[in-house]
Amino acid sequence: MVAEQNGFEAAPNGQGGGAGQGDGAGQGGDAGQGGEVIIKADNVSFFYGQFQALKNISVDIMADEVTAFIGPSGCGKSTFLKLLNRMHDFVPGTRLAGEIQIRGTSIYGPEADPVDIRRRVGMVFQRPNPFPKSIYDNICYGPRLVGVNRKADLDQVVERALKAAALWDDVKDKLGKSALDLSGGQQQRVCIARALALEPEILLMDEPTSALDPIATSKVEDWIRGAGMSIVIVTHNMQQAARISDRTAFFYMGQLIEFGPTLELFTSPKEERTENYITGRFG
Ligand SMILES: Nc1ncnc2c1ncn2[C@@H]1O[C@H](COP(=O)(O)OP(=O)(O)OP(=O)(O)O)[C@@H](O)[C@H]1O
Ligand SMILES: [Mg+2]
Repeated sequence: MVAEQNGFEAAPNGQGGGAGQGDGAGQGGDAGQGGEVIIKADNVSFFYGQFQALKNISVDIMADEVTAFIGPSGCGKSTFLKLLNRMHDFVPGTRLAGEIQIRGTSIYGPEADPVDIRRRVGMVFQRPNPFPKSIYDNICYGPRLVGVNRKADLDQVVERALKAAALWDDVKDKLGKSALDLSGGQQQRVCIARALALEPEILLMDEPTSALDPIATSKVEDWIRGAGMSIVIVTHNMQQAARISDRTAFFYMGQLIEFGPTLELFTSPKEERTENYITGRFG
């Protein structure tokens, strides 16, 4: 992937930090509140070859909140999510313009280290994808890659990550069993624990419950609600976005149409396209 740093134009005065703008496409990223910004996207466009999948996205994502991305299929939600931990790096013919910062540092700048960024920004996918290994070895996979090898240290990592993912009580007596023998919801929580084992600052989740039944879904939702960490979740389920997120971003045809506190976006959307989508008129 090519990152065009010169595609970045500094925001005009008064536009950063939630300073009260927000009408019109491409400016929907103003959430309009205080708090710490953990991810800042400025005028981000993204291309697969000639096709422009994202158009001038600017958004401030707040630390320690759950941010939901909603919008019809193909509108660019996953594309944008993957940009946040440099998952497109290996996709030939892709190109980025604009800038993305995490805690004030550009993640596509010349000094950025993609391996470090992926450690700081964990990812959980749509389908639970545990490795065909024991539960224990799934959780240890990342820590071992970064050189944690002492059994006592690994035991501690496993216990902490499984507790954080609300799975410890389910599996503490069968850590040596294959992760593939768990239920779908448990497998997804293994994947969450695997991501948490590297103590990421941000967790990205792309439709993490769409392959799960309602009980498993509510377990994962409970975890998200109680996690107290910075989470960005893509979901097609608007009730889910309403249940678990602090803020919601509505994407449409590669643009960020509207971004704001979840309750406001669902009860009094500012943009007609948002209203049409959440009331089921399209998508
Ligand atoms: N690897 C790729 N190569 C070319 N085009 C792609 C690629 N991945 C996605 N696209 C296109 O980019 C656009 C955005 O896709 P993306 O997967 O981000 O959408 P999405 O909002 O996540 O959709 P869904 O809700 O169906 O998951 C779509 O038009 C898609 O066809
Ligand atoms: Mg997607």
